[in-house]
Amino acid sequence: MKRRWFLASTAAVALATVGLTTACGGSQSGGDEAAGGGEARGGVLTMATSADYPPYEFVETAGGAEEIVGFDVDIARHIAEELGYELEITNIDFNGLIPALQAGRADFVMAGMTPTEERKQNVDFSEIYYDAKQTIVFQSGGGIASPEDLTGKTVGVQLGSIQEELANDLVETVPNVKLSPLNRINEIVQELKSGRIDAAIIEDTVAEGFLANNPDLEAVEIREDGPAGSAIAFPKDSELVSEFNRVLSEMESSGMMEELIVKWFGDRAE
Ligand code: ARG
Repeated sequence: MKRRWFLASTAAVALATVGLTTACGGSQSGGDEAAGGGEARGGVLTMATSADYPPYEFVETAGGAEEIVGFDVDIARHIAEELGYELEITNIDFNGLIPALQAGRADFVMAGMTPTEERKQNVDFSEIYYDAKQTIVFQSGGGIASPEDLTGKTVGVQLGSIQEELANDLVETVPNVKLSPLNRINEIVQELKSGRIDAAIIEDTVAEGFLANNPDLEAVEIREDGPAGSAIAFPKDSELVSEFNRVLSEMESSGMMEELIVKWFGDRAE
């Protein structure tokens, strides 16, 4: 069972990567200089994201056209504009984001990504721009109040996420927990609703959005002290890191960040 998921997700990552290469094909001449960013691409910055994460990033279909929107996208657009770049966005599975940076196929990643020590060995991060907590999501009436209640249950997590790491730790401490790592958050929610998995670990703000649209689901917060929050990821030694940090801190002090938090998280903002 586990192996089947693994194979399925490998194929998905491979496909996504092909799509990405095509998308950037025209501007790759200076690809080796990915760390330098914009200049190598004629003033275009390529952001990679996994647009399955409302309100951070998701695909909105308005009038037949699909557009990637969200909190991260608004921040990225503002930073790109401030720094004089055009912005291109590519949508790939979360698990493929860091490989895309390492291969020079994107200048930065915004995907509600948490700056963990492990990831820092492969990419550089901006300052954290938003904080988060973890929750267990389950079908209403499922009676889950703490991680121990996951005994004997199948738990969905996004492949390559800190939630997957957290679930791996659970397997060590809670008896008979089975993991179901999936590529996209909406797949996880579907599996949960259909009863193919018993629970999922999802970040609070994202879980609350899904709960609002799915009254048959419930969530409980997990207390843990692992890494949390979102930062922007770059290829190692990218010169963009300091420029992005400068604009991020300007956004903090001008109140623009707060406005965007209220816009996208509304009364869920802390
Ligand atoms: N914050 C978590 C992590 O960094 C989950 C992020 C998932 N993001 C997404 N766009 N699906 O692992």
